Amino acid sequence: MNLNVALVGFGNVGRSLAEILLAKQDFLRSEFHAVVRVVGISTGRHGHAIAPSGISLRTALDAVRFGSQLDGLHEGRPVQDTSSFLERCPADLVFESLPTNPIDGQPALDHIRGLLERGVHVVTANKGPVAYGYHELKALADKYQVGFFFEATVMDGAPVIGVGREGLVGTDISEIRGIFNSTTNYILTQMEYENLSFDEAVRMAQEIGIAETDPSLDVDGWDSVLKLVIMSNLLMGIDLRPEDVAREGIQGITLDDILAAIAAGQRIKLVCKSARRPDGSVESIVAPQRLSLNDPFAAVMGTSSVIDYVTDTLPQLTIIENNPSPMTTAYGMFVDMLNIVRGRHVTGSFEPIKHP
Ligand SMILES: NC(=O)c1ccc[n+]([C@@H]2O[C@H](COP(=O)([O-])OP(=O)(O)OC[C@H]3O[C@@H](n4cnc5c(N)ncnc54)[C@H](OP(=O)(O)O)[C@@H]3O)[C@@H](O)[C@H]2O)c1
Repeated sequence: MNLNVALVGFGNVGRSLAEILLAKQDFLRSEFHAVVRVVGISTGRHGHAIAPSGISLRTALDAVRFGSQLDGLHEGRPVQDTSSFLERCPADLVFESLPTNPIDGQPALDHIRGLLERGVHVVTANKGPVAYGYHELKALADKYQVGFFFEATVMDGAPVIGVGREGLVGTDISEIRGIFNSTTNYILTQMEYENLSFDEAVRMAQEIGIAETDPSLDVDGWDSVLKLVIMSNLLMGIDLRPEDVAREGIQGITLDDILAAIAAGQRIKLVCKSARRPDGSVESIVAPQRLSLNDPFAAVMGTSSVIDYVTDTLPQLTIIENNPSPMTTAYGMFVDMLNIVRGRHVTGSFEPIKHP
């Protein structure tokens, strides 16, 4: 099959995905009889390019690396913005990796809605539209028989969504617990290992590019909330909104708190948890917790992350992801594309365990 794809967002993740698409061309051809052609790339400051005959990814990667515009790769009249790019780009599948908007998931939510309604497959790494629009977007994808996949939104490319909806099919998941945010886990780790104050650890995380200039999305717990909402809606059959999650960040944690926990044989972690109550409803919370050093979560340090599924058949399944990078995230998007190539988007073949 020939698959025309577009990349909306060509930053750390989009460029890593381009590298994977280049490296896996022969694999795609030999194992899946698939030829993937990139027919469009859309960015913020680096312009837009649409070329139905195909864009050289190597040339596009070099252009962005050297600070050039992508418009030189464009065929036809100029494209003004991402909305007009999406209307004109002849893609069968769009990879979306725009910055996350934690308030309402826009503009990506509207972009994805429009694409699905036009029968275009969507693979996204962006938590915002999935946390705010999962049930609506999944219903649209089912209606138009296209794929809407988002493995890269939680724990980067580690297959925690795939395990949940494929590997745990037929299982009742009563609890999801995780450390989902790399930046806060890194800050807490540095406070303990280097005896740093919270502010010093944030500055260190910023210096090495782990924390944003404005780290509030991470330290206030919003990033963790969005990820918990995605997992809970997908795997626990509920309709959770980000504002429904009880949220406390790590900005109040002091070095004294960290040292006191260690002295007591514990470690502080920012834990996300959705758990089913006896009446069937689900309680969802993101908050710092003191964990026993015997808890596997206490051993997850630095930028690593972890998830626990508690189910009626597997008492506790734990997946730890160590040292993620944008390449890990891009791999999650690549797997999503392969699942579409394999037809796993067709209703019934790759379903969440329950709909609300
Ligand atoms: N980095 C990771 O490992 C990771 C892990 C999991 C999930 N994610 C998610 O993946 C997404 C992308 O992350 P990233 O690290 O690749 O971010 P990034 O490096 O900041 O890249 C963002 C891309 O979006 C483009 N962009 C920004 N505003 C735009 C607009 N208004 N219209 C069109 N394009 C626009 C940027 O273009 P210009 O650069 O030209 O402005 C850039 O190409 C985010 O939602 C993030 O939360 C990332």
